[in-house]
Amino acid sequence: MLKAESTSAPSGGAGLQSNASACACSRADRHGAEIRAALLTDLDALVALERHFPGDRLSRTSLRRLLHRASAEVWVYEAAGCVAGDAVLLYRRNSAQARLYSLVVHPRYQGRGIARALLKHAERAAALRGRGCLSLEVRATNAPALRLYQKAGFNLVRQIAGYYEDHAPALRLEKPIAGAM
Ligand SMILES: CC(C)(COP(=O)(O)OP(=O)(O)OC[C@H]1O[C@@H](n2cnc3c(N)ncnc32)[C@H](O)[C@@H]1OP(=O)(O)O)[C@@H](O)C(=O)NCCC(=O)NCCS
Repeated sequence: MLKAESTSAPSGGAGLQSNASACACSRADRHGAEIRAALLTDLDALVALERHFPGDRLSRTSLRRLLHRASAEVWVYEAAGCVAGDAVLLYRRNSAQARLYSLVVHPRYQGRGIARALLKHAERAAALRGRGCLSLEVRATNAPALRLYQKAGFNLVRQIAGYYEDHAPALRLEKPIAGAM
């Protein structure tokens, strides 16, 4: 993903109210945790999560646009009223692929399977839109993310030179998702 949406409605629901805060809680409560479509009221939390990327961060303006775009889905993992992570999916017209554009989990919540759950959710969401493949870009040096994708069954397709702002290369990974529903 340039750096990287609940099986229910995608983020077309932007504008509805959510009281979730940007990770103000000290721990994720598995009970009451859910993956849901991001709302406009999640914007602050989404912007805050972007800080955990080393670069190529999505701006507030870009995130706001994504929340309204029919060809994008933004999903958040909410635990006990906190937005602990998010995943952004992009859909190009006439493409059999969906692209995982963003995936991030707040450091306080990492190591609890939240990224794995968001990824699984993204696969299902893309399959529901009739896509047969999920693609993404990841830094070759991002060991946690590479391990996550490798374990989830993604395959290396190619390296893309100078992909990131700092000219670091990206690895393009893909996974067939037929049957992910
Ligand atoms: C990569 C990231 C999304 C993982 O989030 P997470 O919620 O901690 O990951 P999970 O707990 O779901 O872990 C799932 C798997 O990922 C791998 N993984 C996650 N963190 C890891 C780490 N620090 N070291 C090695 N492997 C790791 C493991 O294989 C893990 O499975 P396991 O625990 O059974 O071994 C998180 O570290 C993050 O937000 N990083 C900053 C943003 C980023 O780099 N996003 C990816 C951009 S492509």
